[in-house]
Amino acid sequence: MKSAWWKESVIYQIYPRSFCDSNGDGIGDIQGIISKLDYLKRLGIDIIWLSPVYQSPNEDNGYDISDYQKIMKEFGDMEDFDKLLAEAHMRNIRIIMDLVVNHTSDEHAWFVESRKSKDNPYRDFYIWKEGKDGKEPNNWGSWFGGSAWQHDEATDMYYLHIFAKKQPDLNWDNSELRQKVYEMMRWWLEKGVDGFRMDVISLISKNPDFPDGEVNGLYGDLTPYCAHGPHVHEYLQEMNREVLSKYDIMTVGETACVTLEEAKKYAGEDRNELDMVFQFEHVELGSGKYGKWNDKPIDLRELKSVFQKWEEGLEGIGWNALFWSNHDQPRAVSRFGDDKEYWEYSAKMLGVCLHLMKGTPYIYQGEELGMTNAGFTELSDYRDLESINAYHEMVEEQGVSAEEMMTYLQKKSRDNARTPMQWSAEENAGFTTGVPWIKVNSNYKQINAQAQLENPDSIYNFYRRLIQLRHEEEIVVHGSFEMLYKESDQIFAYQRVLSNIKLVVLCNFTPNHVAFDGIPKKAQILIENYKDECGNYLRPYEAIAYKILDDTQG
Ligand code: GLC
Ligand code: CA
Repeated sequence: MKSAWWKESVIYQIYPRSFCDSNGDGIGDIQGIISKLDYLKRLGIDIIWLSPVYQSPNEDNGYDISDYQKIMKEFGDMEDFDKLLAEAHMRNIRIIMDLVVNHTSDEHAWFVESRKSKDNPYRDFYIWKEGKDGKEPNNWGSWFGGSAWQHDEATDMYYLHIFAKKQPDLNWDNSELRQKVYEMMRWWLEKGVDGFRMDVISLISKNPDFPDGEVNGLYGDLTPYCAHGPHVHEYLQEMNREVLSKYDIMTVGETACVTLEEAKKYAGEDRNELDMVFQFEHVELGSGKYGKWNDKPIDLRELKSVFQKWEEGLEGIGWNALFWSNHDQPRAVSRFGDDKEYWEYSAKMLGVCLHLMKGTPYIYQGEELGMTNAGFTELSDYRDLESINAYHEMVEEQGVSAEEMMTYLQKKSRDNARTPMQWSAEENAGFTTGVPWIKVNSNYKQINAQAQLENPDSIYNFYRRLIQLRHEEEIVVHGSFEMLYKESDQIFAYQRVLSNIKLVVLCNFTPNHVAFDGIPKKAQILIENYKDECGNYLRPYEAIAYKILDDTQG
Protein backbone atom coordinates (compact mmCIF):
# COMPACT_ATOMS: atom_id res chain seq x y z
CA MET A 1 0.00 0.00 0.00
CA LYS A 2 1.06 3.60 -0.59
CA SER A 3 2.85 5.43 2.18
CA ALA A 4 1.41 8.67 3.53
CA TRP A 5 2.08 10.94 6.49
CA TRP A 6 -1.32 10.21 8.01
CA LYS A 7 -0.49 6.51 8.15
CA GLU A 8 2.55 7.24 10.28
CA SER A 9 0.64 9.55 12.59
CA VAL A 10 -1.27 9.42 15.84
CA ILE A 11 -4.33 11.65 15.98
CA TYR A 12 -5.60 13.37 19.10
CA GLN A 13 -9.22 14.47 19.28
CA ILE A 14 -10.03 17.70 21.08
CA TYR A 15 -13.58 18.44 22.19
CA PRO A 16 -12.99 22.17 22.70
CA ARG A 17 -15.87 22.83 25.07
CA SER A 18 -14.36 20.47 27.64
CA PHE A 19 -10.63 20.84 27.00
CA CYS A 20 -9.34 23.98 28.69
CA ASP A 21 -11.03 27.24 29.67
CA SER A 22 -8.74 30.27 29.47
CA ASN A 23 -11.09 33.01 30.69
CA GLY A 24 -13.12 31.54 33.54
CA ASP A 25 -16.53 31.39 31.84
CA GLY A 26 -16.67 27.63 32.39
CA ILE A 27 -16.39 26.80 28.68
CA GLY A 28 -13.25 25.50 27.03
CA ASP A 29 -11.89 27.76 24.27
CA ILE A 30 -9.22 28.21 21.61
CA GLN A 31 -6.79 30.11 23.84
CA GLY A 32 -7.14 27.21 26.26
CA ILE A 33 -6.10 24.79 23.52
CA ILE A 34 -3.13 26.96 22.59
CA SER A 35 -1.98 26.89 26.21
CA LYS A 36 -1.89 23.08 26.09
CA LEU A 37 -0.06 22.57 22.80
CA ASP A 38 3.18 21.84 24.62
CA TYR A 39 1.41 19.15 26.61
CA LEU A 40 0.33 17.55 23.33
CA LYS A 41 3.75 17.99 21.77
CA ARG A 42 5.29 16.21 24.74
CA LEU A 43 2.79 13.37 24.35
CA GLY A 44 4.07 13.11 20.79
CA ILE A 45 0.88 13.22 18.75
CA ASP A 46 1.07 14.36 15.14
CA ILE A 47 -2.39 15.58 14.28
CA ILE A 48 -5.24 17.24 16.16
CA TRP A 49 -8.81 16.57 15.14
CA LEU A 50 -10.70 19.59 16.34
CA SER A 51 -14.39 18.97 17.05
CA PRO A 52 -16.47 21.88 15.68
CA VAL A 53 -15.41 25.41 16.62
CA TYR A 54 -17.77 27.19 14.22
CA GLN A 55 -20.54 29.60 15.11
CA SER A 56 -23.41 27.62 16.57
CA PRO A 57 -26.41 28.01 18.85
CA ASN A 58 -25.11 24.85 20.56
CA GLU A 59 -28.16 22.69 20.41
CA ASP A 60 -25.73 19.82 19.82
CA ASN A 61 -22.50 21.41 21.10
CA GLY A 62 -21.33 22.82 17.80
CA TYR A 63 -22.56 20.02 15.54
CA ASP A 64 -25.31 22.46 14.57
CA ILE A 65 -23.50 25.15 12.62
CA SER A 66 -25.01 28.54 11.83
CA ASP A 67 -21.95 29.96 10.04
CA TYR A 68 -19.16 27.80 8.65
CA GLN A 69 -16.78 30.70 8.35
CA LYS A 70 -17.08 32.16 11.83
CA ILE A 71 -15.76 30.93 15.17
CA MET A 72 -18.17 30.20 18.02
CA LYS A 73 -18.19 33.28 20.28
CA GLU A 74 -17.59 31.25 23.45
CA PHE A 75 -14.45 29.76 21.85
CA GLY A 76 -12.87 33.02 20.65
CA ASP A 77 -12.57 34.51 17.18
CA MET A 78 -10.84 33.92 13.86
CA GLU A 79 -7.69 35.58 15.08
CA ASP A 80 -7.50 33.03 17.88
CA PHE A 81 -8.03 30.26 15.38
CA ASP A 82 -5.27 31.52 13.09
CA LYS A 83 -2.96 31.70 16.07
CA LEU A 84 -3.84 28.13 17.06
CA LEU A 85 -3.11 26.88 13.56
CA ALA A 86 0.22 28.74 13.40
CA GLU A 87 1.28 27.62 16.88
CA ALA A 88 0.40 24.02 16.11
CA HIS A 89 2.25 24.08 12.78
CA MET A 90 5.27 25.58 14.50
CA ARG A 91 5.35 22.44 16.64
CA ASN A 92 4.85 20.18 13.62
CA ILE A 93 1.34 19.33 14.67
CA ARG A 94 -1.28 19.32 11.96
CA ILE A 95 -4.93 20.22 12.49
CA ILE A 96 -7.93 18.63 10.84
CA MET A 97 -11.33 20.26 11.11
CA ASP A 98 -14.70 18.71 11.73
CA LEU A 99 -16.75 19.12 8.57
CA VAL A 100 -20.44 18.95 9.44
CA VAL A 101 -22.29 19.12 6.14
CA ASN A 102 -25.06 16.56 6.37
CA HIS A 103 -27.03 19.29 8.12
CA THR A 104 -26.73 22.85 9.38
CA SER A 105 -28.32 24.66 12.28
CA ASP A 106 -31.82 26.00 11.61
CA GLU A 107 -30.20 29.36 12.36
CA HIS A 108 -27.88 29.12 9.35
CA ALA A 109 -28.64 31.88 6.80
CA TRP A 110 -29.42 29.23 4.15
CA PHE A 111 -32.15 27.72 6.28
CA VAL A 112 -33.50 31.05 7.43
CA GLU A 113 -34.02 31.83 3.73
CA SER A 114 -35.13 28.33 2.79
CA ARG A 115 -38.06 28.22 5.15
CA LYS A 116 -39.43 31.62 4.03
CA SER A 117 -41.28 30.51 0.91
CA LYS A 118 -41.58 27.70 -1.60
CA ASP A 119 -39.87 29.75 -4.28
CA ASN A 120 -37.02 31.11 -2.20
CA PRO A 121 -33.69 30.58 -4.02
CA TYR A 122 -32.46 28.54 -1.01
CA ARG A 123 -35.60 26.42 -0.75
CA ASP A 124 -33.97 23.46 -2.42
CA PHE A 125 -30.89 23.55 -0.18
CA TYR A 126 -32.90 21.48 2.32
CA ILE A 127 -35.30 18.56 2.12
CA TRP A 128 -38.91 19.72 2.12
CA LYS A 129 -41.95 17.46 1.71
CA GLU A 130 -45.72 17.82 1.83
CA GLY A 131 -47.48 16.07 4.71
CA LYS A 132 -49.54 12.94 4.18
CA ASP A 133 -53.14 13.04 5.43
CA GLY A 134 -52.26 15.89 7.74
CA LYS A 135 -49.29 14.00 9.19
CA GLU A 136 -45.55 13.61 8.59
CA PRO A 137 -44.47 12.57 5.06
CA ASN A 138 -43.36 9.16 6.39
CA ASN A 139 -42.74 7.32 9.65
CA TRP A 140 -39.01 7.98 10.05
CA GLY A 141 -37.74 8.55 13.58
CA SER A 142 -34.98 11.05 14.35
CA TRP A 143 -31.81 9.57 15.86
CA PHE A 144 -32.26 12.05 18.67
CA GLY A 145 -35.88 11.09 19.40
CA GLY A 146 -39.30 11.96 17.97
CA SER A 147 -40.18 12.16 14.28
CA ALA A 148 -37.46 13.01 11.76
CA TRP A 149 -39.84 15.56 10.19
CA GLN A 150 -40.70 18.98 11.50
CA HIS A 151 -43.76 20.85 10.33
CA ASP A 152 -43.05 24.44 9.35
CA GLU A 153 -45.89 26.94 9.55
CA ALA A 154 -44.74 29.42 6.92
CA THR A 155 -45.29 27.06 3.99
CA ASP A 156 -47.24 24.27 5.68
CA MET A 157 -44.58 21.71 4.71
CA TYR A 158 -42.18 19.45 6.58
CA TYR A 159 -38.37 19.46 6.61
CA LEU A 160 -36.19 16.44 7.31
CA HIS A 161 -33.88 16.31 10.32
CA ILE A 162 -32.11 13.00 11.03
CA PHE A 163 -30.78 14.60 14.22
CA ALA A 164 -32.40 17.36 16.31
CA LYS A 165 -35.17 19.63 15.06
CA LYS A 166 -32.59 22.40 15.01
CA GLN A 167 -30.40 20.39 12.60
CA PRO A 168 -32.19 20.35 9.23
CA ASP A 169 -30.62 18.02 6.64
CA LEU A 170 -29.03 19.60 3.60
CA ASN A 171 -30.14 18.49 0.15
CA TRP A 172 -27.02 17.12 -1.50
CA ASP A 173 -28.91 16.43 -4.72
CA ASN A 174 -28.76 20.17 -5.33
CA SER A 175 -25.54 20.91 -7.23
CA GLU A 176 -25.60 24.56 -6.17
CA LEU A 177 -25.51 23.49 -2.52
CA ARG A 178 -22.64 21.13 -3.22
CA GLN A 179 -20.68 23.95 -4.82
CA LYS A 180 -21.28 26.17 -1.79
CA VAL A 181 -19.93 23.44 0.48
CA TYR A 182 -16.85 22.97 -1.72
CA GLU A 183 -16.23 26.71 -1.73
CA MET A 184 -16.33 26.74 2.06
CA MET A 185 -13.96 23.76 2.23
CA ARG A 186 -11.48 25.49 -0.11
CA TRP A 187 -11.60 28.56 2.10
CA TRP A 188 -10.45 26.52 5.12
CA LEU A 189 -7.85 24.64 3.10
CA GLU A 190 -6.44 27.90 1.78
CA LYS A 191 -6.03 28.95 5.39
CA GLY A 192 -3.79 25.94 5.78
CA VAL A 193 -5.83 23.37 7.69
CA ASP A 194 -4.64 19.84 7.09
CA GLY A 195 -7.83 17.98 6.37
CA PHE A 196 -11.27 17.05 7.56
CA ARG A 197 -13.10 14.60 9.74
CA MET A 198 -16.44 14.38 7.97
CA ASP A 199 -19.43 14.17 10.26
CA VAL A 200 -22.00 11.46 9.35
CA ILE A 201 -20.90 11.76 5.75
CA SER A 202 -22.50 8.38 4.95
CA LEU A 203 -25.94 9.99 5.34
CA ILE A 204 -25.76 12.76 2.74
CA SER A 205 -27.61 10.99 -0.07
CA LYS A 206 -31.22 9.99 0.64
CA ASN A 207 -33.39 7.46 -1.14
CA PRO A 208 -35.59 9.70 -3.34
CA ASP A 209 -38.72 7.61 -2.66
CA PHE A 210 -38.65 8.32 1.09
CA PRO A 211 -40.38 5.02 1.92
CA ASP A 212 -41.62 4.19 5.43
CA GLY A 213 -39.05 2.39 7.55
CA GLU A 214 -39.44 -0.74 9.60
CA VAL A 215 -40.90 0.19 12.95
CA ASN A 216 -38.97 -0.63 16.07
CA GLY A 217 -40.04 1.27 19.12
CA LEU A 218 -42.14 4.27 18.20
CA TYR A 219 -40.90 5.21 14.74
CA GLY A 220 -39.68 3.75 11.47
CA ASP A 221 -35.97 3.18 10.86
CA LEU A 222 -34.58 5.63 8.30
CA THR A 223 -31.15 4.01 8.19
CA PRO A 224 -31.64 1.83 5.09
CA TYR A 225 -32.86 4.86 3.13
CA CYS A 226 -30.31 7.41 4.27
CA ALA A 227 -27.05 5.54 4.92
CA HIS A 228 -24.90 4.94 1.81
CA GLY A 229 -27.67 6.37 -0.36
CA PRO A 230 -27.73 6.20 -4.16
CA HIS A 231 -25.34 9.10 -4.88
CA VAL A 232 -23.03 9.21 -1.87
CA HIS A 233 -20.00 7.86 -3.72
CA GLU A 234 -20.62 10.02 -6.75
CA TYR A 235 -20.75 13.14 -4.53
CA LEU A 236 -17.60 12.21 -2.62
CA GLN A 237 -15.75 11.59 -5.86
CA GLU A 238 -16.87 14.95 -7.10
CA MET A 239 -15.71 16.57 -3.84
CA ASN A 240 -12.39 14.76 -4.16
CA ARG A 241 -11.92 15.85 -7.78
CA GLU A 242 -12.89 19.47 -7.19
CA VAL A 243 -11.40 20.05 -3.75
CA LEU A 244 -9.55 17.36 -1.80
CA SER A 245 -7.19 16.20 -4.54
CA LYS A 246 -5.78 19.71 -4.88
CA TYR A 247 -4.21 19.72 -1.41
CA ASP A 248 -1.83 17.61 0.67
CA ILE A 249 -4.39 16.75 3.32
CA MET A 250 -6.07 13.81 5.00
CA THR A 251 -9.72 12.91 5.36
CA VAL A 252 -11.58 10.54 7.61
CA GLY A 253 -15.28 9.91 7.20
CA GLU A 254 -17.60 9.26 10.08
CA THR A 255 -19.55 6.63 8.20
CA ALA A 256 -22.43 5.65 10.45
CA CYS A 257 -23.72 2.14 9.68
CA VAL A 258 -20.80 1.31 7.41
CA THR A 259 -20.18 -2.28 6.36
CA LEU A 260 -16.85 -3.62 5.14
CA GLU A 261 -18.11 -3.65 1.56
CA GLU A 262 -19.18 -0.01 1.77
CA ALA A 263 -15.94 0.98 3.51
CA LYS A 264 -13.99 -0.38 0.58
CA LYS A 265 -15.85 2.12 -1.59
CA TYR A 266 -15.39 5.10 0.73
CA ALA A 267 -11.76 4.43 1.53
CA GLY A 268 -10.43 2.19 -1.22
CA GLU A 269 -7.05 3.60 -2.26
CA ASP A 270 -8.02 3.56 -5.92
CA ARG A 271 -11.45 5.12 -5.38
CA ASN A 272 -10.57 8.80 -4.92
CA GLU A 273 -13.04 9.41 -2.13
CA LEU A 274 -11.71 9.44 1.45
CA ASP A 275 -8.47 8.31 3.11
CA MET A 276 -10.13 6.30 5.87
CA VAL A 277 -13.43 5.83 7.64
CA PHE A 278 -14.59 5.27 11.18
CA GLN A 279 -16.58 2.06 11.53
CA PHE A 280 -18.60 1.51 14.70
CA GLU A 281 -19.13 -2.23 15.00
CA HIS A 282 -16.82 -2.65 17.98
CA VAL A 283 -18.41 0.16 19.98
CA GLU A 284 -21.93 -0.95 19.10
CA LEU A 285 -21.55 -4.54 20.31
CA GLY A 286 -24.36 -5.50 22.63
CA SER A 287 -26.90 -3.16 21.03
CA GLY A 288 -30.38 -4.63 21.38
CA LYS A 289 -34.01 -3.77 21.80
CA TYR A 290 -33.27 -0.19 22.83
CA GLY A 291 -30.33 0.31 20.51
CA LYS A 292 -27.30 1.70 22.30
CA TRP A 293 -29.13 1.88 25.63
CA ASN A 294 -28.07 -1.26 27.43
CA ASP A 295 -25.57 -2.36 30.04
CA LYS A 296 -24.31 -5.53 28.40
CA PRO A 297 -20.66 -6.34 29.03
CA ILE A 298 -18.37 -6.81 26.04
CA ASP A 299 -17.92 -10.33 24.71
CA LEU A 300 -14.22 -10.53 23.89
CA ARG A 301 -14.65 -13.05 21.10
CA GLU A 302 -17.11 -10.76 19.36
CA LEU A 303 -14.80 -7.80 19.84
CA LYS A 304 -11.90 -9.72 18.36
CA SER A 305 -13.86 -10.89 15.39
CA VAL A 306 -14.88 -7.32 14.57
CA PHE A 307 -11.25 -6.15 14.54
CA GLN A 308 -10.12 -9.21 12.63
CA LYS A 309 -12.75 -8.60 9.99
CA TRP A 310 -11.69 -4.97 9.51
CA GLU A 311 -7.96 -5.55 9.69
CA GLU A 312 -8.03 -8.43 7.21
CA GLY A 313 -10.85 -7.00 5.13
CA LEU A 314 -9.12 -3.73 4.28
CA GLU A 315 -5.64 -5.24 3.82
CA GLY A 316 -4.22 -4.03 0.53
CA ILE A 317 -7.38 -2.03 -0.19
CA GLY A 318 -7.84 0.75 2.34
CA TRP A 319 -6.62 2.07 5.68
CA ASN A 320 -8.19 1.53 9.10
CA ALA A 321 -9.04 4.29 11.60
CA LEU A 322 -8.53 2.81 15.09
CA PHE A 323 -10.35 4.13 18.15
CA TRP A 324 -11.87 3.04 21.45
CA SER A 325 -13.66 6.25 22.21
CA ASN A 326 -14.67 9.72 21.05
CA HIS A 327 -17.07 12.46 22.15
CA ASP A 328 -20.06 10.21 21.34
CA GLN A 329 -18.87 7.15 23.26
CA PRO A 330 -18.31 6.23 26.88
CA ARG A 331 -14.75 6.33 28.22
CA ALA A 332 -12.53 3.54 26.87
CA VAL A 333 -11.29 2.19 30.19
CA SER A 334 -14.82 2.08 31.61
CA ARG A 335 -16.25 0.32 28.61
CA PHE A 336 -13.49 -2.10 27.60
CA GLY A 337 -11.26 -2.30 30.68
CA ASP A 338 -11.76 -2.06 34.41
CA ASP A 339 -12.03 1.45 35.83
CA LYS A 340 -11.66 0.25 39.43
CA GLU A 341 -9.13 -2.28 40.73
CA TYR A 342 -7.19 -2.66 37.46
CA TRP A 343 -7.72 0.86 36.19
CA GLU A 344 -4.09 1.59 35.38
CA TYR A 345 -3.21 -1.83 33.98
CA SER A 346 -6.30 -2.01 31.83
CA ALA A 347 -5.97 1.54 30.49
CA LYS A 348 -2.41 0.77 29.38
CA MET A 349 -3.42 -2.60 27.97
CA LEU A 350 -6.11 -0.98 25.83
CA GLY A 351 -3.54 1.46 24.50
CA VAL A 352 -1.20 -1.36 23.45
CA CYS A 353 -4.00 -3.35 21.88
CA LEU A 354 -5.21 -0.47 19.71
CA HIS A 355 -2.00 1.36 18.82
CA LEU A 356 -0.15 -1.63 17.44
CA MET A 357 -2.85 -2.77 15.07
CA LYS A 358 -2.69 -1.74 11.43
CA GLY A 359 -4.25 1.67 10.91
CA THR A 360 -4.09 5.17 12.31
CA PRO A 361 -4.87 5.39 16.04
CA TYR A 362 -7.06 8.12 17.49
CA ILE A 363 -6.75 9.21 21.11
CA TYR A 364 -9.76 10.96 22.59
CA GLN A 365 -8.81 13.72 25.04
CA GLY A 366 -8.20 12.31 28.51
CA GLU A 367 -7.81 8.74 27.29
CA GLU A 368 -4.05 9.22 27.72
CA LEU A 369 -4.77 9.77 31.43
CA GLY A 370 -7.18 6.86 31.74
CA MET A 371 -10.11 9.18 32.37
CA THR A 372 -13.24 7.23 33.34
CA ASN A 373 -17.00 7.52 32.88
CA ALA A 374 -18.56 10.22 35.01
CA GLY A 375 -21.64 8.07 35.58
CA PHE A 376 -23.86 10.93 36.76
CA THR A 377 -26.71 9.72 38.95
CA GLU A 378 -29.01 12.74 38.48
CA LEU A 379 -30.71 13.51 35.20
CA SER A 380 -30.12 17.20 35.92
CA ASP A 381 -26.35 16.66 35.64
CA TYR A 382 -26.68 15.54 32.02
CA ARG A 383 -26.24 18.12 29.27
CA ASP A 384 -26.41 15.99 26.12
CA LEU A 385 -29.66 16.31 24.21
CA GLU A 386 -29.46 12.73 22.93
CA SER A 387 -29.29 11.42 26.52
CA ILE A 388 -32.00 13.70 27.84
CA ASN A 389 -34.40 13.03 24.94
CA ALA A 390 -33.78 9.28 25.19
CA TYR A 391 -34.47 9.33 28.91
CA HIS A 392 -37.85 10.99 28.42
CA GLU A 393 -38.83 8.87 25.46
CA MET A 394 -37.87 5.58 27.09
CA VAL A 395 -39.24 6.32 30.55
CA GLU A 396 -42.36 8.25 29.58
CA GLU A 397 -43.34 6.51 26.35
CA GLN A 398 -41.72 3.09 26.30
CA GLY A 399 -42.27 2.02 29.89
CA VAL A 400 -38.62 1.55 30.86
CA SER A 401 -38.18 2.28 34.57
CA ALA A 402 -36.31 5.41 35.58
CA GLU A 403 -33.71 3.37 37.50
CA GLU A 404 -33.02 1.11 34.55
CA MET A 405 -32.64 4.03 32.15
CA MET A 406 -30.33 5.77 34.60
CA THR A 407 -27.97 2.78 34.63
CA TYR A 408 -27.91 2.89 30.82
CA LEU A 409 -27.03 6.58 30.88
CA GLN A 410 -24.29 5.94 33.41
CA LYS A 411 -22.77 3.39 31.06
CA LYS A 412 -23.46 4.83 27.63
CA SER A 413 -24.30 8.52 27.71
CA ARG A 414 -22.11 10.74 25.55
CA ASP A 415 -21.63 13.00 28.55
CA ASN A 416 -19.33 10.38 30.07
CA ALA A 417 -16.71 11.54 27.61
CA ARG A 418 -17.62 15.21 27.78
CA THR A 419 -16.73 16.05 31.37
CA PRO A 420 -13.85 18.52 31.63
CA MET A 421 -10.32 17.43 30.95
CA GLN A 422 -8.60 16.69 34.29
CA TRP A 423 -5.50 18.86 34.32
CA SER A 424 -4.66 18.95 38.02
CA ALA A 425 -5.88 18.31 41.56
CA GLU A 426 -6.90 21.94 41.89
CA GLU A 427 -10.52 23.02 42.02
CA ASN A 428 -12.50 21.95 38.92
CA ALA A 429 -9.53 19.81 37.93
CA GLY A 430 -7.74 22.95 36.75
CA PHE A 431 -10.11 23.11 33.77
CA THR A 432 -11.67 26.45 34.73
CA THR A 433 -11.56 29.05 37.46
CA GLY A 434 -15.31 29.54 37.00
CA VAL A 435 -18.26 27.17 37.02
CA PRO A 436 -17.78 24.40 34.44
CA TRP A 437 -20.61 23.97 31.89
CA ILE A 438 -20.78 20.31 32.88
CA LYS A 439 -19.70 18.76 36.16
CA VAL A 440 -16.13 17.61 36.58
CA ASN A 441 -15.66 13.88 37.23
CA SER A 442 -15.30 13.49 40.98
CA ASN A 443 -12.11 11.41 40.65
CA TYR A 444 -9.94 14.30 39.38
CA LYS A 445 -7.80 14.34 42.51
CA GLN A 446 -6.55 10.84 41.65
CA ILE A 447 -6.69 11.08 37.87
CA ASN A 448 -5.12 14.22 36.40
CA ALA A 449 -2.42 15.32 33.99
CA GLN A 450 -0.18 17.04 36.48
CA ALA A 451 0.24 13.91 38.60
CA GLN A 452 0.87 11.78 35.54
CA LEU A 453 3.39 14.07 33.90
CA GLU A 454 5.57 13.70 36.99
CA ASN A 455 5.23 9.94 37.26
CA PRO A 456 7.38 7.99 34.76
CA ASP A 457 5.09 4.95 35.09
CA SER A 458 1.85 6.84 34.44
CA ILE A 459 -0.64 6.05 31.71
CA TYR A 460 0.34 9.34 30.05
CA ASN A 461 4.01 8.36 29.86
CA PHE A 462 3.02 4.89 28.68
CA TYR A 463 1.05 6.45 25.82
CA ARG A 464 4.10 8.57 25.00
CA ARG A 465 6.12 5.42 24.56
CA LEU A 466 3.39 3.85 22.44
CA ILE A 467 3.29 6.85 20.13
CA GLN A 468 7.07 6.78 19.88
CA LEU A 469 6.93 3.14 18.80
CA ARG A 470 4.84 4.06 15.78
CA HIS A 471 7.41 6.68 14.84
CA GLU A 472 10.38 4.37 15.34
CA GLU A 473 9.22 0.97 14.15
CA GLU A 474 8.23 0.67 10.52
CA ILE A 475 6.49 -2.61 11.29
CA VAL A 476 3.91 -0.81 13.43
CA VAL A 477 2.82 1.17 10.40
CA HIS A 478 3.32 -1.25 7.55
CA GLY A 479 3.42 -4.81 8.92
CA SER A 480 0.68 -7.21 7.84
CA PHE A 481 -1.84 -8.26 10.49
CA GLU A 482 -2.77 -11.71 11.69
CA MET A 483 -4.92 -12.68 14.68
CA LEU A 484 -3.42 -15.13 17.20
CA TYR A 485 -5.21 -17.10 19.95
CA LYS A 486 -8.37 -16.79 17.87
CA GLU A 487 -10.47 -19.03 20.08
CA SER A 488 -9.49 -17.44 23.38
CA ASP A 489 -12.18 -15.51 25.19
CA GLN A 490 -9.57 -13.91 27.47
CA ILE A 491 -6.56 -13.02 25.34
CA PHE A 492 -6.60 -10.56 22.43
CA ALA A 493 -3.41 -11.30 20.51
CA TYR A 494 -2.09 -10.65 17.04
CA GLN A 495 1.10 -10.46 15.07
CA ARG A 496 2.40 -8.04 12.53
CA VAL A 497 4.93 -9.14 9.94
CA LEU A 498 7.26 -7.04 7.79
CA SER A 499 9.88 -8.87 5.71
CA ASN A 500 11.76 -11.01 8.26
CA ILE A 501 10.57 -9.25 11.40
CA LYS A 502 7.62 -10.19 13.53
CA LEU A 503 5.86 -8.06 16.14
CA VAL A 504 3.69 -10.01 18.57
CA VAL A 505 1.10 -8.30 20.75
CA LEU A 506 -0.56 -10.07 23.69
CA CYS A 507 -3.33 -8.53 25.74
CA ASN A 508 -5.22 -10.05 28.64
CA PHE A 509 -8.72 -8.55 28.74
CA THR A 510 -9.60 -10.12 32.09
CA PRO A 511 -8.79 -9.74 35.80
CA ASN A 512 -7.57 -13.37 35.82
CA HIS A 513 -4.22 -15.06 35.36
CA VAL A 514 -4.41 -16.63 31.93
CA ALA A 515 -2.05 -19.31 30.66
CA PHE A 516 -0.29 -18.67 27.34
CA ASP A 517 2.68 -19.96 25.37
CA GLY A 518 5.24 -17.70 26.97
CA ILE A 519 7.69 -15.39 25.24
CA PRO A 520 10.55 -16.77 23.14
CA LYS A 521 14.03 -16.21 24.61
CA LYS A 522 15.29 -14.20 21.69
CA ALA A 523 12.39 -11.78 21.77
CA GLN A 524 12.99 -8.08 22.28
CA ILE A 525 10.26 -6.56 24.44
CA LEU A 526 9.06 -3.24 23.01
CA ILE A 527 6.52 -2.35 25.64
CA GLU A 528 4.78 -3.98 28.61
CA ASN A 529 2.56 -2.79 31.42
CA TYR A 530 4.03 -4.95 34.22
CA LYS A 531 7.59 -4.45 35.36
CA ASP A 532 8.83 -7.97 35.92
CA GLU A 533 8.69 -10.91 33.55
CA CYS A 534 5.61 -12.96 33.21
CA GLY A 535 6.46 -16.66 32.78
CA ASN A 536 3.64 -18.69 31.32
CA TYR A 537 0.74 -16.64 32.62
CA LEU A 538 -0.51 -13.28 31.60
CA ARG A 539 -1.46 -11.38 34.73
CA PRO A 540 -4.68 -9.32 35.08
CA TYR A 541 -4.94 -6.95 32.11
CA GLU A 542 -1.32 -7.59 31.21
CA ALA A 543 -0.11 -6.38 27.81
CA ILE A 544 3.19 -7.20 26.14
CA ALA A 545 4.51 -6.44 22.70
CA TYR A 546 7.73 -8.00 21.48
CA LYS A 547 9.73 -8.09 18.30
CA ILE A 548 11.54 -11.12 16.96
CA LEU A 549 13.26 -12.24 13.79
CA ASP A 550 10.78 -14.40 11.94
CA ASP A 551 12.68 -17.51 10.82
CA THR A 552 9.62 -18.89 9.06
CA GLN A 553 10.04 -16.15 6.44
CA GLY A 554 12.71 -16.38 3.76
C1 GLC B 1 -22.00 12.90 14.64
C2 GLC B 1 -21.28 13.59 15.78
C3 GLC B 1 -22.24 13.76 16.92
C4 GLC B 1 -23.39 14.61 16.44
C5 GLC B 1 -24.02 14.04 15.18
C6 GLC B 1 -24.90 15.05 14.52
O1 GLC B 1 -22.37 11.62 14.97
O2 GLC B 1 -20.14 12.88 16.13
O3 GLC B 1 -21.64 14.31 18.04
O4 GLC B 1 -24.35 14.72 17.45
O5 GLC B 1 -23.08 13.67 14.22
O6 GLC B 1 -24.10 16.05 13.96
CA1 CA C 1 -13.79 30.09 28.08
